[in-house]
Amino acid sequence: MQQRLGIDIGGSGIKGALVDTENGKLLTGRLRIPTPQPSSPDAVAGVISQIVANFQYEGPMGVTFPGIVKNGKILSAANVDEHWVNADAGALFSTTLGQPVSVINDADAAGIAEMRFGNGRDVRGVVILLTLGTGIGSAIFLDGRLLPNSEFGHLKIRGKDAELRASERVREEKSLSWKKWSGALGEYLAELEKLFSPDLFLIGGGISKKADKFIPYLKTHVSVPIAAALLQNEAGMIGAALITEARN
Ligand code: BGC
Repeated sequence: MQQRLGIDIGGSGIKGALVDTENGKLLTGRLRIPTPQPSSPDAVAGVISQIVANFQYEGPMGVTFPGIVKNGKILSAANVDEHWVNADAGALFSTTLGQPVSVINDADAAGIAEMRFGNGRDVRGVVILLTLGTGIGSAIFLDGRLLPNSEFGHLKIRGKDAELRASERVREEKSLSWKKWSGALGEYLAELEKLFSPDLFLIGGGISKKADKFIPYLKTHVSVPIAAALLQNEAGMIGAALITEARN
């Protein structure tokens, strides 16, 4: 067993758990702390310290971030405080915690977990995973290998970011029926299908628990197989824990 702490920063909550990176299972319950508002770098680093202290964890850890991440540096922040843009999250967290911290885009982390331990396992060809939550995150794989920071949630659909039409937040805020919301999501998937000809779409995020309510509608929009992600809300934490492995 190899135990690692994985932390997932989201627009509404920051979650952490100890993960067994050999089988992708959580070794503890998850701790969820509401994302501070404003979600400034220092405030978020404070919450991460709290999570680390809670698990009395020492060692390499991984943290996801809901924006573009390149070499630990944050390059976009659509749903979190704008002060993150250009911040070196890897350096900030490692200094605050006195331990090495790897940082990765949240959807990329979820995708890595899903390809290793979930419904993307052993799937060859092009796989696109979308996480539907506050925004829309994306991860694209070829033969299991990630192309990082794909940011398909910002693809324009009739002039507007896809995540402003088809995220879970939009469904809730506008009280859309499953059918109506699936129409918007299906239009978006059809566009992705045209651009990337994937072999499989995986739909992740908390909404994947309710897959039977919307996947049948989506199937009428695209010809590619669509499946719900298996790891749901845990995928980000598991993926975060997995990216620490490269250091060992
Ligand atoms: C961000 C992505 C992120 C997604 C899900 C989008 O607004 O640009 O980086 O993966 O939200 O959190």
